[in-house]
Amino acid sequence: MSRLRLAILISGRGSNMEQLLKAASEDNYPAEAVLVLSNKTNAEGLETARSHGVAAKAVPHKDYADRESFEHALDAALREHDVDIIALAGFMRVLTPWFVRRWEGRMLNIHPSLLPKYPGLETHKRAIEAGDEEAGCSVHWVSEGVDEGNVIAQARVPILADDTPQTLADRVLVEEHTLYPHALALACEQVKKKPSS
Ligand code: GAR
Repeated sequence: MSRLRLAILISGRGSNMEQLLKAASEDNYPAEAVLVLSNKTNAEGLETARSHGVAAKAVPHKDYADRESFEHALDAALREHDVDIIALAGFMRVLTPWFVRRWEGRMLNIHPSLLPKYPGLETHKRAIEAGDEEAGCSVHWVSEGVDEGNVIAQARVPILADDTPQTLADRVLVEEHTLYPHALALACEQVKKKPSS
C-alpha cells in the first residue's frame, strides 16, 4: 500500500520533527513527509524542515481573530497538500473540538510525561516535585481533552537525585527522538486499515 502523506505541526525547535523527517525519508517507512506547519513565524524548525527538502510554512495564530479561523487556515494548508496523518511535535496550541473531530484518528502528539500523569505544562518539574522515581514520554492519539487521548507508546527514564527540570527534560528528549518515529509507524498501520474520509 502507498505511504501516507504526513504533516508535522511545530511551534519551535523541531528536534522531534527532524527525527520524524529522517525516518520518513526512508522508502520503507509507512509515511512520507509532505508539509511542516508552524504557528510561529520564527520557529527554528521551519528552516530545518526546508533543509530536509520539505515544504514548510508559518501560519501565525496571531494573524487570526480567533482559534477557529486560525485552524481553518491550518486545515486549508493540510487539505491543499492532501495530508493523511498529522504529527504534533512541540506544537503548543490547544486545538478546538472542531479541528480535533475533523482529524480524529489521524492526528497524534508527543507529550513529555508518562500519561495519564502530568498532562499540560511543566511536566518535568511536577514529576521531580512529586518525588517520582521515573519519568518519560508518551505518544498518543489526539482527542478533545488536552493530552487525554489513547496512548500508542511510551518510553521511561529514571529520575536522578540531582535532577533539575532541564536535566530531566534532556534525558526524556533523547527517548522522545526514538519513540516518536516508532509510534508514528504503528499509528500509520492503524490509519491504513481505515476507509479514507
Ligand atoms: C518536546 O519535549 C515535546 O515533548 C514537548 O515540547 C518539546 C518540543 O521539542 N511537547 C509538549 O510539551 C506538548 N505539550 P522539539 O520542538 O525539539 O521537538
